[in-house]
Amino acid sequence: MSRTVYVNGTYMPEEEATVSIFDRGFVMGDAVYEVTCVLDGKLTEFDGHMARLARSLSELEIVCDLTRDDWLEIHRKLIEMNGVEEGGVYLQVSRGTAGDRDFHYPPEGTPPTVVLYTQSKPGLSADPKADKGIKVISVPDLRWHRRDIKTVQLLYASMAKMAAEKEGKDDAWFVEDGFVTEGSSNNCYIVKGGRIITRQLSNDILHGITRASVLKMAQEAQMEVEERPFTIEEAQAADEAFYTSASAFVMPIVEVDGVAVGAGKPGPVAKRLREIYIDESRKSAI
Ligand code: PDD
Repeated sequence: MSRTVYVNGTYMPEEEATVSIFDRGFVMGDAVYEVTCVLDGKLTEFDGHMARLARSLSELEIVCDLTRDDWLEIHRKLIEMNGVEEGGVYLQVSRGTAGDRDFHYPPEGTPPTVVLYTQSKPGLSADPKADKGIKVISVPDLRWHRRDIKTVQLLYASMAKMAAEKEGKDDAWFVEDGFVTEGSSNNCYIVKGGRIITRQLSNDILHGITRASVLKMAQEAQMEVEERPFTIEEAQAADEAFYTSASAFVMPIVEVDGVAVGAGKPGPVAKRLREIYIDESRKSAI
């Protein structure tokens, strides 16, 4: 069944949705995005995602007049029109187009291109992958150095994911200067002696919305959290590993570069955090 999508103020069938071939998002990767999870037909962590969107736009000086309430209305309308119970809403804002390819930004007042659509994923919260755990490989982090801005420049992340799949694994961890930065589309953690270790925030990683909530919930559950970089060797010797993202919540990792982590199956900390996170997200969804 065709989805109803949103393009620049209009709701329309996905087959009719178009943007210019000169759009900056298309020719220059000059666009930012957000993915907000939907549980029980409601939006989780909505305000966190909108705050990060505002920051990404402002860092790139892309002007977009839509307010938090406008965004909420669009998200909710799309969820309703498409009958989404579990899944997500993808939102993208590009710098628009001046009507031709040009390295210069378009003139002031050029409207951004705004696109939103839903991705229905029934059963997302009961993903069987979370019961088995996933396997990762490591690859050098060759991305640009403003990873804190959520741009659509995802080619390297996509290549890393494909490299992992080629080796029969699920995902890739990026490594820079000997330390893990993050996953291809998620933030990474290890657990050692009951302590959760994850890289501190900087321009080196995306400031995950799920990360912020999971760390808060972990601390509320009296778990110890240490924010610092860790190596692949440390991960391989850890008791547990996991990653977080809006579309996967808390996902246990059972193997890093061919070496089993801990008992080689999802550990109690990751399992507990996944439960707490999904539970709390349902309760606070809007
Ligand atoms: N990815 N790091 C990277 C590089 C990411 O792309 C993502 C999210 C995260 C986790 O952020 P959050 O918890 O706010 O989802 C970390 C989304 C889900 C995606 O690209 O589909």
